[in-house]
Amino acid sequence: METLEKTETITSQDFLPLNGTDHIEFYVGNAKQSAYYYQTAWGYKLVAYSGPETGVRDRASYVLQQNKVRLVLTTSLQPDSEITKHHAKHGDGVKFLSIWVDDATKSFEETVKRGAKPYMAPTRFEDEHGWVVISAIHTYGDTIHKFVERNHYNGPFLPGFKAVPNAIDVVPVGLKYVDHCVGNVELGAMNQWVKYYEDVMGFKLLITFDDEDISTEYSALMSKVVSNGNGYIKFPINEPAEGRKKSQIEEYLDFYQGAGVQHIAIETDDIIATVGELRRRGIEFLYVPETYYDDIPQRVGQIDEDLEALKKLNILIDRDEDGYLLQIFTKPVEDRPTLFYEIIQRRGAKSFGKGNFKALFESIEREQELRGNL
Ligand code: FE2
Repeated sequence: METLEKTETITSQDFLPLNGTDHIEFYVGNAKQSAYYYQTAWGYKLVAYSGPETGVRDRASYVLQQNKVRLVLTTSLQPDSEITKHHAKHGDGVKFLSIWVDDATKSFEETVKRGAKPYMAPTRFEDEHGWVVISAIHTYGDTIHKFVERNHYNGPFLPGFKAVPNAIDVVPVGLKYVDHCVGNVELGAMNQWVKYYEDVMGFKLLITFDDEDISTEYSALMSKVVSNGNGYIKFPINEPAEGRKKSQIEEYLDFYQGAGVQHIAIETDDIIATVGELRRRGIEFLYVPETYYDDIPQRVGQIDEDLEALKKLNILIDRDEDGYLLQIFTKPVEDRPTLFYEIIQRRGAKSFGKGNFKALFESIEREQELRGNL
């Protein structure tokens, strides 16, 4: 059953006002090569770097940006660091889902007071471009939420990072901002994490999908979407459900060795151009059969885009009471079947493409089967 509740904008009384996603930091095996992939294939611009050349001895980090989407790729330079251990266990994956706030000290105090497990107490960093305060709390798995207060900083990223010239002629693909970030958690843990976001961060439960909504002949999952007061941060949380075969969430948990970020959805305002260009650059997307498009006119009604163009690019369409949306999902972007991306264009719709779940999960199962993990 789907319940969609409109959240009010209650920022004035919100104990944790959030301005949006600040950046997403990955721990990866080879940040230099990953940065090349994100520049050439995804069109991100390299905007800042920190590493031995900037006086940091134990790691190298590359900051990539396209409009409001900012990714940081970090690799360890040592054999036994926390980063190396994280990478050995999880493979390439998201370590920090960092949120932009006006007051990182208050964000830390208010969330820790409500039960958040602290990761880093509020700490001030400064350089010639100004100062920032960063604090951090734990969430599911080894994933961390950083609170970044940067209103008094105008450098390329954060203190310690230097602007770097782009060696590559980067052509953006129209990625605008992070729409939502989805977490996969262990069987039975979804409600606990929903409660965590409600109690600790003051989020509201936006939508519930049960295993009736999200099941195929073989496997199932359950999902709840939580969002902050102004709706700038949306975190769907998935857990596996009993099915005849292995849930895609279980496959993720097996290969990520626990809970973690499953996918990052990024908004574009021209999905046909964005996906066309990504495909030309070799990004692989999940495939849905042509028959998916047979009932689209009846199911979603009038849309502005050319249906043939959407069909050719295998873009999915869904409608809710507020409008429609267009979306497509990549295959996992590392060798482990873990993190993938969603490209989404909202045409009024505020939901997450429930009408596409079945086609999508059947597509994921075909991939799971090829990997021998179904
Ligand atoms: Fe999504």
